[in-house]
Amino acid sequence: MSDARGAAMLATPALNKGTAFTEIERTQFGLHGLLPPYVETLDEQVVRAYNAFQAYQNDLGRHINLRALQDNNEVLFYRLLLDHIEEMTPIVYTPVVAEACQHFSHIYRRPRGLFISYPLRDSIPELLRNRPCDEADVIVVTDGERILGIGDQGVGGLGIPIGKLSLYTLFGGIHPTRSLPIVLDVGTDNEERLRDPEYLGWRHPRIRGSEYDEFVDLFVKAVKQELPRACLQWEDFATPHARPILEKYRNELLTFNDDIQGTAAVALSAILSAVKSSGMRLTDQQVVFFGAGSAATGVADYLRQAMIEEGLSQQEAAHRFWMIDVNGLLHEGRTDLTPAQRIYAHHPAGQTDLAGLIHKLDATILIGLSTVGGAFTEPIVREMARKVGRPIILPLSNPTQRSEATPIDLIHWTDGRALVATGSSFAPVKYGGRLIPVAQCNNVYIFPALGLGTVASQATRVTDEMILAAARALATNSPVDPSSPLLPELKHLRGITVEIAYAVALEAQRGGVAPKTDPDELRRSVVAHQWAPAYAAV
Ligand code: NAI
Repeated sequence: MSDARGAAMLATPALNKGTAFTEIERTQFGLHGLLPPYVETLDEQVVRAYNAFQAYQNDLGRHINLRALQDNNEVLFYRLLLDHIEEMTPIVYTPVVAEACQHFSHIYRRPRGLFISYPLRDSIPELLRNRPCDEADVIVVTDGERILGIGDQGVGGLGIPIGKLSLYTLFGGIHPTRSLPIVLDVGTDNEERLRDPEYLGWRHPRIRGSEYDEFVDLFVKAVKQELPRACLQWEDFATPHARPILEKYRNELLTFNDDIQGTAAVALSAILSAVKSSGMRLTDQQVVFFGAGSAATGVADYLRQAMIEEGLSQQEAAHRFWMIDVNGLLHEGRTDLTPAQRIYAHHPAGQTDLAGLIHKLDATILIGLSTVGGAFTEPIVREMARKVGRPIILPLSNPTQRSEATPIDLIHWTDGRALVATGSSFAPVKYGGRLIPVAQCNNVYIFPALGLGTVASQATRVTDEMILAAARALATNSPVDPSSPLLPELKHLRGITVEIAYAVALEAQRGGVAPKTDPDELRRSVVAHQWAPAYAAV
């Protein structure tokens, strides 16, 4: 327990209760005179904070307001978020955090997390020892190069780890004093940032090649040395770095890449949930992917693994997939395929465009990860729906204008039969006198649970089987009735996160990457590790 008193105590967000300090606490910690005399309850503080939040005219202002509250009083910040979860999640994280990253240097108030800049590469262990927390259960690190859909933001990319860790705490209950956002500041190639006199990062073009690789290596070594039990999550690295970094380090420490593994898990959950609603079996599915890039092959790999777990052979499972990229169907005659794509190559086929393929096959699942807005046209969707009772269609490309189709069109073109989940957020669709809500494949369904599950089980690795277990647990806990979306509403997610985390923890034990305990004890550990925002006696 900290021995902070007086003004220092009020300046410590983990300890500060502000106007909720009781008379006894005010006497004990020398706070009389530093606070207005009325003692508020946490509920009263939440009402006042919500009114202040609502007074802002735009979303960036609301984001700044919430970030300031986070830096002032963490319990109040998380209680406010919890009470307004649907309204505030998009303000703290996507989509509003994108604007906060772009304006990072202009809206900068107080430091949070760690800035590890290339010029200080020889003292990374020391920087980690300067961290603002004693221990870290979860680290989220970015190099700021591929921030959401807005590209290179340099040091401003730190807004993403900060926002993401807020959701680790909000949904997963990761203790706010045990999370660490980090930016690896390797420069920026964003001319606008470099020209900006207020830019706060290292003003240098991005370090590349072996210098970059060595820097990342120094960072990982320092994390292993200083925080060996932390779960290290890679965030928004550019495609050429993301998978190689994951593959290089995933067997060395507790680590995962949310853009690759979290995305695939949540898409898989939506598919499993849709398959359940359709009344079919997973092993009966014929899957067409439009787009065969990093996101598509990631989703396909986990979906294929799930089919294998349900009884298909490696080859049978791979042949349930047809993938199309900018050059047409992936087939064995092509010389431009990566090893990850080659798994899904068919014998050279006549039909290599989407319309032809949908005509030829009895596709049950159609997934868009192509960035081509409107690619799922009416004739294509009608043809698919002619041959299958409940077509499962996931236009997952972001942002909204790149979505391969809109839910409203999909529902109408299939006479209300399509089971739809999207990458971007869409309003519910009115059809046949009912309102059909649309699930958004948001990674927040998975990463807080992965964090909680690894912490509670003391796992030392994140295995593919743990990711699959998370996806299956989310699908199991998703609604089944036709008037509900394929994934749960955010207001139910905190409870469901416990179930997903438990499944992850059990799988960690089964796979031998966490110490074995009794299942009931493990569940108790998961529940006990989910921090809830309430004032403790100080
Ligand atoms: P990528 O650049 O690695 O892959 C894009 C793929 O689409 C490539 O295979 C490319 O050949 C193909 N493609 C492009 N134009 C095409 C055309 N005219 N016809 C057929 N294929 C075409 O990109 P990545 O990272 O795989 O992302 C793809 C999309 O998925 C993006 O819009 C991204 O925002 C979205 N995404 C959504 C997620 C979610 O819903 N949670 C998560 C990750 C990505």
